Amino acid sequence: MQRRTVVKGLSAAAAAVPAVGFASSARAASRVSAADALVFDPSAYTEQTVTITDATGTAHEVVYRFYKVASYVANPVDAAYQSLNVCVPVKIDGTAVDASGAPILLANAVGGYMPSSVAAKTGITATGMGGATTRQALALAAGYVVVEPGARGRTLVDASGVYYGVAPAAIVDLKAAVRYLKSNKGRVPGNVNRIVSSGVSAGGALSSLLGASGDSPLYEPYLEAIGAADASDGIFAVGAWCPITDLEHSDMAYEWCWGGNKLASGALADQALSAELKTAYADHVASLGLRAKGYGRLTARNLDDYLLRTFMEPSATKYLAGLSDSARSAYLAANPFITWSGGKASFTWADFLTHVGARRKSVPSFDTFDMASPENNLFGTGTTRARHFTLWSLRKQNGDSARLDEDIPEKLALMNSMYHLVDKVNSKRTKHWWIRLGTNDTDTSHTIAGNLHARLVQLGDDVNTSYYWDAGHGADQDPGDFVRWIGEVSGYRSKVRQ
Ligand code: DHB
Repeated sequence: MQRRTVVKGLSAAAAAVPAVGFASSARAASRVSAADALVFDPSAYTEQTVTITDATGTAHEVVYRFYKVASYVANPVDAAYQSLNVCVPVKIDGTAVDASGAPILLANAVGGYMPSSVAAKTGITATGMGGATTRQALALAAGYVVVEPGARGRTLVDASGVYYGVAPAAIVDLKAAVRYLKSNKGRVPGNVNRIVSSGVSAGGALSSLLGASGDSPLYEPYLEAIGAADASDGIFAVGAWCPITDLEHSDMAYEWCWGGNKLASGALADQALSAELKTAYADHVASLGLRAKGYGRLTARNLDDYLLRTFMEPSATKYLAGLSDSARSAYLAANPFITWSGGKASFTWADFLTHVGARRKSVPSFDTFDMASPENNLFGTGTTRARHFTLWSLRKQNGDSARLDEDIPEKLALMNSMYHLVDKVNSKRTKHWWIRLGTNDTDTSHTIAGNLHARLVQLGDDVNTSYYWDAGHGADQDPGDFVRWIGEVSGYRSKVRQ
């Protein structure tokens, strides 16, 4: 242990002088070089040109500066994941662009809580699945700065068998990336006070968590351990597609939502287990104290109606209104459960569930008995690959006196957006939210995003939530609208036509 000499009258930090001179100066030196390592070099770029097709189908030639930051932390555990790339547009369709005050899209590419590396990337990815223009490319073509951060993920294991990417590594890394950008205010291109995070599924959950938990002291020891820059990790806005968050309540929420839907095999999931979880969910919803206009308190009894009227019917209405008369008639003939009247779609929750069809996951869907789910691995620790993280599943397996590992409650809080919005309301959270999902997405319960939306509205935040009708997991059908929304909420007038 270090001996310290306390000098009266000085602040605690200044007074804590290490007694051993050599160790002290060595540490001071390493602190200086660590700080230097976190200085962004505005001149260290390559210039690249890419053709980007915008949301209206128009192609743009974009010249941009591409920066590779070897690590956004001073003590990386694995720099292959704890690194980031920055893309800054300088010329669009032959016209010079000044992105120095532009919003920054912080686009994570996490899926399945797996590790995500950008270290080998040599430029922006202009097109993604099916040849569609990526969200990042649309943002770049709109004149925004795009930052792509890597992050550790659950499967990473070192030579001694230690899992070093399990919870809370990914969110700690994304926070460290934000701190890196903010500590480089004025050096890093773009407006670091207008960072907008985006992500899909596990990445959507992390995006919403990044926004919900901004500047929470809970993460401090983890950030300190990896040498994160000394700056705020609060962000301005969140884009979250099908966020797989609130993991410790997902099993019960899933049965409340999809309990009566058959599995892909055609069989029902175990209905006794399903009913138990569904019953438990009623207590949980009550404990959240959610309220919504026209409903008062949201409970397990009116949540279906809330979801139906707030999201599902408007989603179907938008979809049907966008069809030609003949296509709409054909769709309605094939789907007689929908009443189309006065330009509005209506139907029952039960018919909606039948329409969605097979549930993707069995029961329990997240904290599975065999501990083979991504989430069991996410809550692994040390050399233990996977653990139970709900008392319900643990006790089903190990008996009624079983106890969760002591560190689990804190890990759950560190990973759950709702913790920072309900249990401990974080005033430093993001106030602008873009939430998107497909109505056919059965990777988690519709109440996960539904409750997130309800809570944010209740807190008075600016929330733009919409469901894509008949779309599945990971859908993004209005990326151009998202890019426009970034401009609107950040008050940025791009010189680029969109
Ligand atoms: C993802 C999907 C899941 O069903 C899940 O449990 C976790 C993550 C994903 O697509 O990222």
